[in-house]
Amino acid sequence: MSQREQWSSKLGFILAAAGSAIGLGAIWKFPYTAGQNGGGAFFLIFILFTLLLGLPLLLAEFSIGRTAQSNAVDSYRKIAPNSKWHWVGILGMITSFILLSFYSVIGGWIVVYLFKALTGQMNGLTSDQYAEVFGATISSPLTSVFVQFLFILMTIIVVAKGIQKGIELASKIMMPALFILFFILVIRAVTLDGAMEGIIFLLQPDFSKVTSQTILEAMGQSFFTLSVGVSVMVTYSSYLPKSQSLPRSAFSIVGMNIFIVLLAGLAIFPAVFAFDLEPGAGPVLLFNVLPTVFSQLPFGMLFFIAFLILFLFAALTSAFSMLEIIVSVISKGDAALRKKWSWIIGLAIFICGVPSALSFGILSDVVLFDKTIFDLADFAVSNVLLPIGALLIALFVPARMKKTALYEELKLGSGLKKGLFEAWFILIRYVAPILIIAVMLDGLGLF
Ligand code: PFF
Repeated sequence: MSQREQWSSKLGFILAAAGSAIGLGAIWKFPYTAGQNGGGAFFLIFILFTLLLGLPLLLAEFSIGRTAQSNAVDSYRKIAPNSKWHWVGILGMITSFILLSFYSVIGGWIVVYLFKALTGQMNGLTSDQYAEVFGATISSPLTSVFVQFLFILMTIIVVAKGIQKGIELASKIMMPALFILFFILVIRAVTLDGAMEGIIFLLQPDFSKVTSQTILEAMGQSFFTLSVGVSVMVTYSSYLPKSQSLPRSAFSIVGMNIFIVLLAGLAIFPAVFAFDLEPGAGPVLLFNVLPTVFSQLPFGMLFFIAFLILFLFAALTSAFSMLEIIVSVISKGDAALRKKWSWIIGLAIFICGVPSALSFGILSDVVLFDKTIFDLADFAVSNVLLPIGALLIALFVPARMKKTALYEELKLGSGLKKGLFEAWFILIRYVAPILIIAVMLDGLGLF
């Protein structure tokens, strides 16, 4: 058997793991979920969950992956042989499958906008006209399914080629570029007339709007943006050499993520209020707001095109990780199998995702538990499957891994202080399970 691939550099790993983390979650999902849940209070609770649960869980996934040096399922098998724990990895594969089936719908929307911007169809409209054009596009069955297919096709092609060449290379240029462009966008947004109201909406917590549902959504959002609970990070860290520091990588990923969530909020909400749009508009929010903000910039369309390319890239690097986790389990490091299964799984995900794409058009009346098919898939992943995955990982680590060995693993390359390690262990062992169970039971109305 050939030697397992490894990341060619530490930066390569951080960029790829950050690439999985930073994507539609921070840029598209955060603004619309915050918009539906009252803004500031949601933002604050989201940050708390990210630091208290997301960060420790990310580190837990890293330690599992690098200890076992295997894929998402075999890692659990290796650490806990002859047990049922590998089902945590299988659950992750199922979650990832559903996740990519609706994630690709939004990825497709970016492709549509890019096409329209490149062909000059987006010039000089009013914000209402942008919303109208967008609404018409995503409700067209043919267009929405076709662009969803294109997005999945791009994902398949990269994953089929294998981890190093595919993912690492492009991340090095695209991620920093995305940060810079976002920065320009924020400056424009916060200097719009009437921007202050949006800044207040995002940064001033109003706890009267907080319900148990809000808390569940904020927890789901924090797992979603960090790609935690799916064992994606188990898979990625299994490719990382022992010389790299896991805590440092986790901190930088969480830091970047919080930063980009803040940038996304500061780019969107000031504009929402300045242009008198509806913050609770749902999944279409970002797509309705962005073109108007860009149209207020000199060379706006050029910036918009650059932004869409980077945004598409951010979405793709997350999508790669979703397909990668499934394919790496099935192909077990064999290049020919990787190619074949990338196509089979990718196409199966596309087929299962079609109803989600259609739920903004001809299937918009199909409603279950008060939700469209798209909303239901999103809710099931973010607020049920990710928390359950995260809970199981939090239970697995103290139950099946030796504390001393964990400390040694986390200390490699960083010299992690014992006190910090103890704090992390307490968070994983006690705080995470109790909090996740309580928030889920409460948010789902089960007690
Ligand atoms: N973190 C990604 C995002 O914010 O867009 C979404 C995601 C990717 C979640 C991979 C879970 C996952 F396993």
